[in-house]
Amino acid sequence: MGFIGSGSIGRTIARLATEAGHQVVLSNSRGPETLADTVAELGPRASAATGAEAAAAGDIVVVTVPVAAFPDLPAAPLAGKTVIDTCNYGSERDGHIPELDSESLTSSELLLRYIPDAVIVKAFNNIFYKHLLSLTRPAGAADRSYLPIAGDSAPAKAAVTEFIESIGYGVVDAGPLADGWRQATGTPVWGTPYGPFLDEKGQSADEDTIRAALATATR
Ligand SMILES: NC(=O)c1ccc[n+]([C@@H]2O[C@H](COP(=O)([O-])OP(=O)(O)OC[C@H]3O[C@@H](n4cnc5c(N)ncnc54)[C@H](OP(=O)(O)O)[C@@H]3O)[C@@H](O)[C@H]2O)c1
Repeated sequence: MGFIGSGSIGRTIARLATEAGHQVVLSNSRGPETLADTVAELGPRASAATGAEAAAAGDIVVVTVPVAAFPDLPAAPLAGKTVIDTCNYGSERDGHIPELDSESLTSSELLLRYIPDAVIVKAFNNIFYKHLLSLTRPAGAADRSYLPIAGDSAPAKAAVTEFIESIGYGVVDAGPLADGWRQATGTPVWGTPYGPFLDEKGQSADEDTIRAALATATR
């Protein structure tokens, strides 16, 4: 797994991934040396590299940066890769992006403009990183939580589903990438099903809960 961005959500996914036996290559905007503590914490399955190297290394690459950083992404090494997009747009952090303000594009469709040869699956954007860490459960557990994924490629979605299942979650197919708005910031499936942010443990959200929340999204 390659990681472009290793902040709150990137590090949490990387931690669950290493615990599940995956190798991870982390990157950020400041250089691999600034990730030494994180790599040490994650153990022998983790290493740090430049963004281009992390992109080249991953069978799956997690893009987990502010939307404002999309123009900086290494497009060439992401060509042909399955990319998990965790990103949410917020004008207060990202500045105003007209296509996103007008909702003529989803943030994942904007991402695709910067990495046009990647195969994007939107996932993890709707769960608070502390809940992601605490709600992981083995397959078959009665209180296993589910995460929505949106994307246009069935093989990429299958690969991402296999990964998400390996780190302790079930998956609900939320449709094509253009339907990613159904899980965007402020929608019913965003945050709420896993409990209030103030409760760091969160609450499990089963498959029916996630399907119902996706179905009631409006825009
Ligand atoms: N926090 C959550 O619970 C959560 C949950 C779901 C989705 N999300 C979304 O996921 C994305 C990441 O969120 P986060 O909370 O993990 O953010 P964060 O803690 O601020 O981390 C952002 C990461 O992106 C890197 N980055 C920033 N600009 C970059 C650039 N130009 N090139 C390469 N890397 C760059 C940062 O590296 P440096 O530190 O070196 O600058 C950092 O590693 C956001 O779009 C957010 O909305 C967040």
